[in-house]
Amino acid sequence: MLTRRGLLAGAGALGVMARAGRASGAGAALPIPELWDARDRAGALGLVAAPGRHRFAPDLPAAATYGYSASFLGPVLRLHRGDAVQMSVENRLDRPTTAHWHGLLVPSDVDGGPHQAIQPGETWRPLLAVDQPEATAWYHAHPHGDTGRQVYMGLAGMMILEDGTGAELGLPHAYGLNDLPLILQDRLFTRAGELEFRNFARERILGTRGDTLMVNGAISPAARVPKALVRLRLLNGANARNFHLSFDDGRIFHVIASDGGYLPAPVPMAALTISPGERFEIVVDFGDGRDAVLGTLADPVEGEAGAGGMGVLSGHGPTGIPTNGPGPMVSFRVDPTLAAPPAALPARLVPIAAPDPTRAVLRRKVTLDMWPGLGGRTGTAGGGAGLPGGQSSRGSGPAMGMNGKRYDMHRIDFDPKLGSSEIWEVFPVLMPHPFHLHGTLFRVLSIDGAPPPAHLAAAKDTVLLGQPAELLLTFTQPATEARPFMVHCHILDHEDAGLMGQYVTS
Ligand code: C2O
Ligand code: CU
Repeated sequence: MLTRRGLLAGAGALGVMARAGRASGAGAALPIPELWDARDRAGALGLVAAPGRHRFAPDLPAAATYGYSASFLGPVLRLHRGDAVQMSVENRLDRPTTAHWHGLLVPSDVDGGPHQAIQPGETWRPLLAVDQPEATAWYHAHPHGDTGRQVYMGLAGMMILEDGTGAELGLPHAYGLNDLPLILQDRLFTRAGELEFRNFARERILGTRGDTLMVNGAISPAARVPKALVRLRLLNGANARNFHLSFDDGRIFHVIASDGGYLPAPVPMAALTISPGERFEIVVDFGDGRDAVLGTLADPVEGEAGAGGMGVLSGHGPTGIPTNGPGPMVSFRVDPTLAAPPAALPARLVPIAAPDPTRAVLRRKVTLDMWPGLGGRTGTAGGGAGLPGGQSSRGSGPAMGMNGKRYDMHRIDFDPKLGSSEIWEVFPVLMPHPFHLHGTLFRVLSIDGAPPPAHLAAAKDTVLLGQPAELLLTFTQPATEARPFMVHCHILDHEDAGLMGQYVTS
């Protein structure tokens, strides 16, 4: 649970920001992204990736940003199971981008990975056939080597996949009223109020982390909520930091869904960790009329990366505020005049079968590698001499890879059979990594030899691994050598530094 001291430390940080000539951010209303329902738009959704200017708090100057048809982030896209949705993404940036549908089960040729660059001035038109259980997914830029910066600048948005289950169950379902999208991020600002994307050695190790917490592109905003049950769709859209969430009054909330859809039953929790790329849906009861603040604890990087030789833990932003610290994320103010449709929290949600490891036709070992100190400097001969396989490296900081190999767009790393299941034993090296695969949902069989906690026991596409884990993967989507699926760490700066592999299904 977030302690009062933690919150005060967060408030203290905001005070420092104010003294440094920046905004306190307090009092901004939670922005609710526009909802684009494919059925209201004749099955066609057209996004424009473009530069813009965005105010992160009412008293901050507008900063240079990117967005999808918005000044920062993008609309929430609602897609319905059984529909084919004609997407289009126009690139009005001055460099290539891509748009990846994170969590959608679609063939690799419409997945939007690094092989599907949209050049400046071009428009990409994938047809998405939606056929998977109701879930909260998202979309974001995924261009080779520039993903971290483009997402940091704003190229991300939420997707809601619907098949009617939540409505049937009576869960809160009125968008923007008792069903709220919360895109959680952290950022650094320069003294002039511009976004600062840092990618030095420290960021290459720990990922780019900020001193300023934001939700839906607003700094520690406030949301008005009805005196009733409210569903929060949590998405960690940060480059690298984990959010350790709880309410300031310690209230219990219920986790009802994760990446791939509903849990079999609501899981009561008082504290929830969400890593980059993950989603959790929670139901919070405001029926007693009490306000509450959802905040995060600090995110110290534990493990060898913190304790050992790399040892660079908490740094400071340009304004001297520690990055990665605790703080308030969203304040909820109960407004009894807000009328929400009746909603309930059923005791049971959607039954799911226990994962069946005997279905697996293969076991693979996958290491998520960091080689501290081997990165060398750009241009120094032999900077990457110590890398396995004689690979070269660029930039400073550690080298990254998977199974001893840095990412290569022209190498296929895994080739599971289409329709088959496999067990992957995943070994995180040096620090916890959020492990993610495109084109599949998996079940966690074990983490550090133990069964997963209840809230991780449904279909997932991203899971934070600080210990070795076994995952049961089922490959249902076709993927070709020209456009393979990605497997990577969702610390975007690790991914850009090479902690990524590719697979085809044959
Ligand atoms: Cu969120 Cu490779 O993706
Ligand atoms: Cu990583």
